[in-house]
Amino acid sequence: MNDTKQIKWFRVAPVGAIPEKEGRRVQYGQHTAALFNLGEEYLAVENQCPHKGGPLADGIVAGKNVFCPLHNWKISLENGCALSGGTGQVKVFPVKVVQNEIYLAFEEAQFQSCEPSGPTSDIQVAKDMGG
Ligand code: FES
Repeated sequence: MNDTKQIKWFRVAPVGAIPEKEGRRVQYGQHTAALFNLGEEYLAVENQCPHKGGPLADGIVAGKNVFCPLHNWKISLENGCALSGGTGQVKVFPVKVVQNEIYLAFEEAQFQSCEPSGPTSDIQVAKDMGG
């Protein structure tokens, strides 16, 4: 028996259909995503702000984050976590580009870790070097 799960990819838009630094709402069944063109990559999160459900696809993109159009919470498009405004998170959808078409795996939305990746602190504890 093969345990490898088959991911279903859905073609949602041609590359270029979404202007750079903008988002668009895309839907499949009960799944609604906010798909963003960040220039070098496309990222997608649930289109419902964790605060009060604002449409994140209509928000202002800054770097790899979006500001919710309703009350300005800042949501990371990489992990779906609220970075300012309050606490909460949305699921992240896998996205890929194949032959100038954008594909989204609607059924694979997942919560990501909100822990910062990489080194968690630059703080160096001063040590007595002895002597
Ligand atoms: S609904 Fe998004 S910040 Fe309030």
